[in-house]
Amino acid sequence: MRIFVLTGAGISADSGLGTFRDAGGIWDKFDPMKLATPAAFAADPERVHEFYNLRRRDMLAARPNAAHVALGRLGEGLKVDGGALFLCTQNIDDLHERAGSRAVHHMHGRLSRALCSSCRATREWRADLGVTDRCAACGRVGTLRPDVVWFGEMPYGMPEIEEALARSDLFVAIGTSGAVYPAAEFVEIARMMGILTLEFNLGKSANAHLFDESVYGPAIESVPRFVARLLGTGGEGL
Ligand code: APR
Repeated sequence: MRIFVLTGAGISADSGLGTFRDAGGIWDKFDPMKLATPAAFAADPERVHEFYNLRRRDMLAARPNAAHVALGRLGEGLKVDGGALFLCTQNIDDLHERAGSRAVHHMHGRLSRALCSSCRATREWRADLGVTDRCAACGRVGTLRPDVVWFGEMPYGMPEIEEALARSDLFVAIGTSGAVYPAAEFVEIARMMGILTLEFNLGKSANAHLFDESVYGPAIESVPRFVARLLGTGGEGL
């Protein structure tokens, strides 16, 4: 079986990392237009660096939860029968990797990497990032930014993502509000191709009506149960 899983901030919520659109979420406290756009970075790079430095420190202090671990197991388990997991995440944290998932497709980039806005080189970067840091590739100072996709920028890896979605037998969305495109459109594309669609979320997402089945509740409970059932190692029911 080929499964396409799309995760959002909700899967990392139980690791203590904030979601964006829940009550009290990140976009309740901060204005995305002042922190998550190229124009915001050009206007006030220090403020943008401070925002992402805080989130990078939170990420490094956080630990993967049972839902991340279950998806790591699913990736390995599917391979046994010649199947495959295509794990696409909107999250910029590294909790999927730290839970054992390989080949994680970060369509919105990664907080653990820096991008040079001048020469476009990227490199691993797990410390605070600032305007005095130098790009090791081109030597310029002040051009490094978090390697994350801001509003108005193209997500990473879309051709590969679209190709994997078209080849999948099952589409699963976990912990995403379905508010941001193009990720929010994946369920519609899957349905048009006759692919079964499943949603795991705390509550109804914006495109809940597009899913064949939905399981509501914390991902740390629903996802391990789902994976255990799928791999034939657990109880009944989703
Ligand atoms: N288990 C399952 N779902 C949860 C949990 C939980 N413990 N906690 C919260 N959720 C759900 C919320 O109810 C919400 O529907 O996860 C969803 C998170 O939605 P958002 O905060 O909008 O996050 P996401 O969908 O990932 O946002 C997409 O928006 O701002 C951009 O780049 C940012 O990647 C992000 C994108």
